[in-house]
Amino acid sequence: MTDNDALRRYLEQQREMGDLDFVLDTLTSREVAEKLKSVGRPDWRASLKTAGLDAERSPLATRGAAPTRAAAPIAKTLPEDEMKKKGKVVVDAEHTNEAIEKARSLKPIAEKVNSCKRCLLYTTATNGVPGEGDSKAQVVIVGEAPGANEDETGLPFVGAAGGLLTKILESVNLSREEVFITNVVKHRPPGNRNPTPDEVEACSPYLIRQLELIKPKVIIAFGNFAAQTLLGTKDGIGKLRGTVHTYHGTPLVVTYHPAALLRNPNWKRPTWEDVKLARRVLDNAQGA
Ligand code: URA
Repeated sequence: MTDNDALRRYLEQQREMGDLDFVLDTLTSREVAEKLKSVGRPDWRASLKTAGLDAERSPLATRGAAPTRAAAPIAKTLPEDEMKKKGKVVVDAEHTNEAIEKARSLKPIAEKVNSCKRCLLYTTATNGVPGEGDSKAQVVIVGEAPGANEDETGLPFVGAAGGLLTKILESVNLSREEVFITNVVKHRPPGNRNPTPDEVEACSPYLIRQLELIKPKVIIAFGNFAAQTLLGTKDGIGKLRGTVHTYHGTPLVVTYHPAALLRNPNWKRPTWEDVKLARRVLDNAQGA
């Protein structure tokens, strides 16, 4: 394994563990690798600038103080000015926060997602991926954003990670059909990069309304990104998993993303513990 591969793998693992995202600034990965070797166990927080979501700005976590401004066009498809000139970000009457909040069922939300231009992701995506499953599901699964397979099909979690998600659910006697599966962001970010805070903000009314309509007994956030966005925290999975949080009154359990499990099978066991915890929350709620 080359230094770069080892570094990439290490950074991916750290990110999946949820503690940190990284901006290498002007350093090459080789320079970073060299620095890591020289300092032994690095203090990542001090030596690399943390990126990622600003917890205070997470519109999902601060629901109620819902985002009021239209999405800022910051995705890297075209320079911002050009996008504005071309009017590529469009919040028409059908796609205002108020219009989304007024949706009375999941179907109009899905329609709005599919025609959404609240951020630039639609310019690079093939399909919107609103989510699928039971509109009265007692369990809602929230991932990060669609990947290539999801973009192609318009369905959430249908690639390799999706196959594993199905097995994880089955391990606690849940079928895909009886849950509702969705993502924080409903269009695929180019190259599967992390969604930007502006994209999350633009997309957040959809997930907020989906959760309001479904009223699940438990939410399972798969992966660091979904967990941090819903909980409005920068804490990582390592810290967040194993306890029951609440998302606006609904119990929320956090676990590793299935894609992370594909790379790190050691996390399968803790993931199973987490979904068993979610199952217990559900069973208790049903018994109540
Ligand atoms: N990863 C996600 O977070 N969501 C999907 O739908 C697919 C992969």
